[in-house]
Amino acid sequence: MNLPFSCHRPLPDTEFQLNVPILDYLDKRLIFVTGKGGVGKSTVAIAMGIRAALEGKRTIVVEVASTENTSRIFRQEDVGYKEVEVANDLWAISIDPDDSMREYVLLQLKVRAMRDLLFKSRMFTYLADATPGLKELVTIGKIWELAQPNRKIKHGRRYDLVIVDSPATGHGISFLQTPRTFANIARVGPMHTQSRALENMITDHELTGSVIVSLPEEMPVNETADLEAELTGDIDVSVDRVIMNALYPDRFSKTDMAALRKLADSEDRELRAVYRGALTQSRRSAAQQEQLERLRGMVSSPITTLPFIFEPELTLKAARSLAEGLS
Ligand SMILES: Nc1ncnc2c1ncn2[C@@H]1O[C@H](COP(=O)(O)OP(=O)(O)OP(=O)(O)O)[C@@H](O)[C@H]1O
Ligand SMILES: [Mg+2]
Repeated sequence: MNLPFSCHRPLPDTEFQLNVPILDYLDKRLIFVTGKGGVGKSTVAIAMGIRAALEGKRTIVVEVASTENTSRIFRQEDVGYKEVEVANDLWAISIDPDDSMREYVLLQLKVRAMRDLLFKSRMFTYLADATPGLKELVTIGKIWELAQPNRKIKHGRRYDLVIVDSPATGHGISFLQTPRTFANIARVGPMHTQSRALENMITDHELTGSVIVSLPEEMPVNETADLEAELTGDIDVSVDRVIMNALYPDRFSKTDMAALRKLADSEDRELRAVYRGALTQSRRSAAQQEQLERLRGMVSSPITTLPFIFEPELTLKAARSLAEGLS
C-alpha cells in the first residue's frame, strides 16, 4: 500500500492502514488533550494517538487520572504504570502519582541508604499528602521524562510524540499551572530549577501544544471559549485545535423532510413514528449545527469536527474511524 508519508517501519496490521494526510497540529512533541468532564478527552486522545502512529510517529498516549479509560479501549493490554505497546508505533501508559514520586526519588537520590530511609519511613507519602499539587507536579515530571529525546530512565524508549489525556478542566487548568506555582513558591534550589524546566516545556509553543475537546451543546461551547482564553492567556499554552466531538449526522435534506412529512398524517402508527423519529433527529442535528456556528464565532483556533459513533461501546475499531476523521 502507498502511504502518502514515509513510515520508518512497515505497518504489518492491514486493518491499521489508512490513507491519511499528515495533520499539522500533531507536529509537536507533547500535546495536552483538555476539556471539561465527559466531553470525550480520552476518546480523542486515543484517536489522535492512532492517527499519529499511522503517520509513522512513535507515539505514547498518557492517561493521568487513574480511571483506566485507555485500557478499556486498548482491551488487549493491561495498561498500567509501564509503557505498553498497544498497536504498531503506539504505546500507552497510565501515570500513577505514587509511582512517579518513587521513580523521581530513585532518579534524584543517588545514595541508596537515603532512598531506603525515605521509602521505609513513609515520609514521602506524608509529604505528598500534605503538599497540595505535589502529585500533579511529579506527574508532569513523568510526562516531561517521557517526552525527552534522551530518556532519564534506563533503556527508556524515545517517542516522537506524547499525547496526554489531561484531567478534566478545573483540574486541567490547575494541573498545567502546577509547575509555575511551585517555581514561584520555591524561589531557589532544585525544586525551583526543575519546576521552571517543566513550566518552560509546557509553554514552549514549538514543542508543546494542546487541543480542547468540546460538545455541540450550549454550556460546553461556552466553557471551551473560556478554556481557550485561559490557556492562551495567563497559562501561555498553545491551543492548536478545538475538536467538536460527537456531532449527529445531518441525514435528511429538505426534500427528504418534505417527503417524510407526508407520513405525519398517515393512518399507520409505525409510519407516523418513523416521521417523528426523523424529525427529532433532524432538529437535534440543526441545534448542534447552531452550536458549531456559535463555537466558530467564539474561538480563534481552527475547529475539527468528529461524528457521533452509534455503537454501544467505543471499540478500537471506532477509535480508528475517528482517527480517520481527525483531518
Ligand atoms: N464521538 C463519539 N461518539 C459516541 N460516543 C462517544 C464519542 N466520544 C466519546 N464518546 C463516549 O462518551 C463517553 C465519554 O467519553 P470519554 O471517556 O472519552 O470522555 P472524557 O472527557 O475522557 O471523560 P472524563 O472527563 O470522565 O475522563 C464515553 O462513554 C465515550 O465512549
Ligand atoms: Mg477521560
